Amino acid sequence: MKSILTITVNDALRQDAVADNILLIDYLRDVIGLTGTKMGCDGGECGACTVLVDGKPRHSCLSLAQACGGAHVETIEALAEQSRLSKLQSAFHEKLGAQCGICTPGMVMAAEGLLRGNPAPSEDEIREGLGANICRCTGYVKIIEAVQAAATP
Ligand code: FES
Ligand code: FES
Repeated sequence: MKSILTITVNDALRQDAVADNILLIDYLRDVIGLTGTKMGCDGGECGACTVLVDGKPRHSCLSLAQACGGAHVETIEALAEQSRLSKLQSAFHEKLGAQCGICTPGMVMAAEGLLRGNPAPSEDEIREGLGANICRCTGYVKIIEAVQAAATP
């Protein structure tokens, strides 16, 4: 069964007729075409699908789109500023915080959520803030360095 979903995605108010059981990640990727959000494990384990819902990181593979009605969802596509990488995205690039890249959009969005609530996190706070996100390539050190670089005034 379909219902009208009213939702704000990356600052744009939308109304879409979508199935009541469609996952947020499938709504973002398949209905809207925002394919920056990645599907990793499809089971709430890896964090590759992380987006911000009302400013807080959330695994979009575990959320129904309809449950986000009225919310503001932000995806990796929202971070670029006038077609330029954000400070956080640039830091991931410069510090080599991305290798294969499958975890990167979710990792960046988790870090974005962390930095909004805590602009100067300690290394432990960064590790805790990214604790729901798995990376199989980098060993995490470069990712932590990237977040630290982005947090530096
Ligand atoms: S794809 Fe959502 S947690 Fe892995
Ligand atoms: S860069 Fe490959 S999984 Fe993180």
